[in-house]
Amino acid sequence: MNYDSPGRQQPPAGQMTRRTWFQASVGALTLAALPKTEVVAQPNSEQPHAKTLKPYELAPLPYATNALEGFLSAEILELHHGKHHAGYVKGLNSTLDAIEEARKQNNYVAIKALERELAFHGSGHILHTLYWNSMSPNGGGEPGPVLTEHLKQSFGTIDGFRKHFAAATKAAEASGWGILAYEPFGGRLIVTAAESHQQMAFQGAVPLLVCDVWEHAYYLRYQNRRSDYVDKFFEVIDWKFGEQRLSANIR
Ligand SMILES: [Fe+2]
Repeated sequence: MNYDSPGRQQPPAGQMTRRTWFQASVGALTLAALPKTEVVAQPNSEQPHAKTLKPYELAPLPYATNALEGFLSAEILELHHGKHHAGYVKGLNSTLDAIEEARKQNNYVAIKALERELAFHGSGHILHTLYWNSMSPNGGGEPGPVLTEHLKQSFGTIDGFRKHFAAATKAAEASGWGILAYEPFGGRLIVTAAESHQQMAFQGAVPLLVCDVWEHAYYLRYQNRRSDYVDKFFEVIDWKFGEQRLSANIR
């Protein structure tokens, strides 16, 4: 198993609403949901807004650590969120600090490695934030009307999507992710299987629902049975979250 360096202590769960939790956790993600005019209106010279940017933060889980007990134990969620996800947040902030220092020093000798770290930790933080929201103690069942329409357009049937997503996720090489994403240029949904966090990315596609298949996500309960873990993921999948993200990004 792979373990990241320990991060800050996990704040208590249940202190924020689901919406405020998500907004606080990944401010950068809201860009994807903004109207196009607001996205292109971002400041673009001499970083006049840089002083207002805050470090990334590890938000509490949107539910209690034992809320998904039938699928994942509290121990797994505590380790996964409080250690692994926290490690990506810590790595993302320290990488941004190092890049800022490189800019100040006008010394880009290490920029290639820094950009690699940025993609790894940044993608790790974003995907984990989406992962917690992709599951719910009230999850499962069937998707809402908007998601259903688009799933049928892109995959033929809902069951066709389930099988496609499950197969791609189970087949992700080594540590990776299964991702349902909206691709705005073609106006369709796609399934991608990321290796690590950032490899095999479909640039421009907006992730809607994700399933973590790094061993740290399931090994303590499922051991090497990744297939069982992925199949049970559909019992807790939060279709409502996918519906909200799709609705906010449809063009
Ligand atoms: Fe993970």
